[in-house]
Amino acid sequence: RGPDQNSLSSPIAKCPFMSCSSLKTLHSLYQGSFPFYRLPSEVGHFSLDENRQYHQDNRKLRYYSPPVGIRKKDSPGWNVMDGYESHYVRRNEEEKEGLLHILTWLEKNQSVLGTHVEGGSKRPIDRDFVTWRGHLTKLLCTPYETQEGWLLAVTLFKGTFYISERETEAARKKREERTQEQERLMYSGYKFESYICADGPYGSDQMDILQDNLKLRTVPDSPDRQPSQSAVVNTNEAYCSVLLARLTSHSLLISGEVDCTDPSAKSSIPPSSYIELKTSAQIRNPHQQRSFNRYKLLKWWCQSFLLGIPIIVAGFRSQEGKIVSLETFKTSDIPHLVRGERNSWDPAVCMNFCNKFLSHIKAVVTKDDPRLVYLFAWEPGSDVTFTVHNDPEYTILPSWYVKAMN
Ligand code: A3P
Ligand code: MG
Ligand code: MG
Repeated sequence: RGPDQNSLSSPIAKCPFMSCSSLKTLHSLYQGSFPFYRLPSEVGHFSLDENRQYHQDNRKLRYYSPPVGIRKKDSPGWNVMDGYESHYVRRNEEEKEGLLHILTWLEKNQSVLGTHVEGGSKRPIDRDFVTWRGHLTKLLCTPYETQEGWLLAVTLFKGTFYISERETEAARKKREERTQEQERLMYSGYKFESYICADGPYGSDQMDILQDNLKLRTVPDSPDRQPSQSAVVNTNEAYCSVLLARLTSHSLLISGEVDCTDPSAKSSIPPSSYIELKTSAQIRNPHQQRSFNRYKLLKWWCQSFLLGIPIIVAGFRSQEGKIVSLETFKTSDIPHLVRGERNSWDPAVCMNFCNKFLSHIKAVVTKDDPRLVYLFAWEPGSDVTFTVHNDPEYTILPSWYVKAMN
């Protein structure tokens, strides 16, 4: 190779992922070693109550409370369709909250995150990126996603990139046209949580008894430890953890909804005490097993790995809507379970793509302006492209937040 050829090909060789404005998503481009990801540490939390009101506490954190004596693959027989008609309060999905709750947390916790240099503050939020875990999960899955595209709105404000998802037209249509069957399946995921979680480490009633009995040092017996199986499933309620993480050179502040904490976990320090709960259809043949490994385990791993949640407890449901087996997965084992399978996925590809996308944001989003939105769009089979907007309809940072950070 002559020097001329080298110089001609070098811009492409140096930067195979990007043309000046788009980013490729082909998974083969992102193979390689696993990038550095510093395990997340929790810096705070908040709760959303039954009316979707924000509280700066852990009142909606639930406690893992599996049936006593149940072993892996035992059948608890829970009916996860029970209460769908009578005991279900659904969050209004028309209401787009965007980053609202994270921004509320940030506004109340500025002292935790600001950089303070002589003569004032350098960045009010000393992180490169602020976003929901769910948005990053979508990014991680992108190199393997063949069905659903996404829209991510990004604003650079005082040195921090805020990433907020916008619903695509296709997603809106899908949501509005959900069948009764799909609605019931959604409910069943939440209902499973109510069978396996209690409101307190010993059930809320039992906590009172526990406090009364502290002098006697007796721990009440187990009936009240039972999760409240007949309670209303209200999808407004959530407990969210706020964590700091780092992906190579990108510092992140991520918040994500956490299903429960394990009061018997070896370490009580979050996120290592947290458990993610999942339901899935019972697996009855090798084809279903391959599909589970290829699609479900990819999403489950991405979702839990990002927050450093070490354990996923899965309930497998029969066609009749009963949980027929429980299985515990260690998040860190999942990549080994799928390795070497045909058409499999590679966690390094997911993380390398996310890393490159965050670098791409830093290269593209250069104007620091709270009113400006760079809208990144992706559809399966295409590259990631972007458009720039200053129409208030696109704004992701509300004026109260901008004011508070000024
Ligand atoms: P499953 O866990 O059984 O899928 P999460 O698992 O993230 O804690 O979410 C709890 C439940 O919310 C899910 O149960 C599912 O029922 C519902 N859910 C979450 N995200 C969803 C989505 N994108 N589409 C449909 N249902 C969803
Ligand atoms: Mg959840
Ligand atoms: Mg869950």
